[in-house]
Amino acid sequence: MISPAFILVSSFLYHVAIAGRTCPRPETLPFATVTPLKTFYDPGEQITYFCQPGYMSRGGMRRFTCPISGIWPINTLKCIPRQCPFAGILENGAVRYTTFEYPNTISFACNTGFYLNGPSSARCTEEGKWSPDPPVCAPVTCPPPPTPTFATLSAYEPLVGNSTLHGKQAVFKCLPQYAMFGNDTATCTAHGNWTELPECREVKCPFPVRPNNGFVNYPAKEALYYKDKATYGCHDTYVLDGPEEVECNKFGNWSAEPSCKASCQISVKKATVIFEGERVKIQEKFKNGMLHGQKVSFFCKNKEKKCSYTEDAQCIDGTFEIPKCFKEHSSLAFWKTDASDVKPCEADA
Ligand SMILES: *[C@@H]1O[C@H](CO)[C@@H](O)[C@H](O)[C@H]1NC(C)=O
Ligand SMILES: *[C@@H]1O[C@H](CO)[C@@H](O)[C@H](O)[C@H]1NC(C)=O
Ligand SMILES: *[C@@H]1O[C@H](CO)[C@@H](O)[C@H](O)[C@H]1NC(C)=O
Ligand SMILES: *[C@@H]1O[C@H](CO)[C@@H](O)[C@H](O)[C@H]1NC(C)=O
Repeated sequence: MISPAFILVSSFLYHVAIAGRTCPRPETLPFATVTPLKTFYDPGEQITYFCQPGYMSRGGMRRFTCPISGIWPINTLKCIPRQCPFAGILENGAVRYTTFEYPNTISFACNTGFYLNGPSSARCTEEGKWSPDPPVCAPVTCPPPPTPTFATLSAYEPLVGNSTLHGKQAVFKCLPQYAMFGNDTATCTAHGNWTELPECREVKCPFPVRPNNGFVNYPAKEALYYKDKATYGCHDTYVLDGPEEVECNKFGNWSAEPSCKASCQISVKKATVIFEGERVKIQEKFKNGMLHGQKVSFFCKNKEKKCSYTEDAQCIDGTFEIPKCFKEHSSLAFWKTDASDVKPCEADA
């Protein structure tokens, strides 16, 4: 005989037991979703873990059934980010990255002289691919250099398709009679343009003026131009002061303007002098005069110290000044000692 009260109590207990065996909301896993997601599950109900896009399951079951005990089994599933292909090396450039996994972005830069042919950054997608595709670093090239007016390109090696690699050079020459201003060499820069090009300008020089007591020769043309030359010479006993040949320079004047300088007559009758390091008799060595620019050293006496020293004299365009300290002896005063025979004074101590 079962009392109605017992049925009531046991049905209550049964219900409590059933209620106590439901599974709770399952634990959440990083980067995973659970379906179906509920607050509790009856025993026998199934749940499935899915990794979110961009993540892969690793190391465990994905499907669980709520057991009679009401406790979900231990879940060792992990959702790990997908790996994109290694992209840490960019030839002639560099890659900035932390990892190559979803959802990271990496960025690219090229070395000087190279440019990014492609994007400057790429993202690892849910599918584990780089988007957009990583770039390459292509060498910078310059278009053919423009040729300045009145110039020609004297050296230039273009790459395929007329362009030139960064760092290569082009050398220019001016046409004859034109002078170059600036550097003859232009370089293809890392920016893909050329360094400054030279300029060629027509340069004329005036006709050279004939020097007094001399002559000048130059090409018989209606005008004289850059690099034209003129030669100078002097009449007898005159000496050219300046180079024999002069050239029309790029500033439109001559490299020099030589003139003719007169030689000197020596008024001293008798003296021993030093000429080019040697003792000579001035009256013999320079009996035909001394040429402009020539220099001798006279001997003078220091009376107190009874010694000799020298003083220079030079022929300058017909003028030769004898040093004041020099005393010429009359040829009769043969008993006097010439300064050149007196012992030299000590150099100043
Ligand atoms: C090089 O340049 C010239 C003149 O600009 C052009 O006619 C020629 O087709 C170019 N060659 C190449 C290979 O691009
Ligand atoms: C011309 O440029 C080249 C290369 O840029 C350099 O080496 C050279 O010294 C320059 N010459 C002059 C005269 O400036
Ligand atoms: C070349 O290009 C760079 C960058 O655009 C610029 O700064 C430079 O002035 C250019 N050089 C010449 C000679 O034009
Ligand atoms: C060339 O001419 C300029 C002015 O016409 C002058 O200043 C300069 O000194 C001259 N140079 C030479 C070497 O004669």
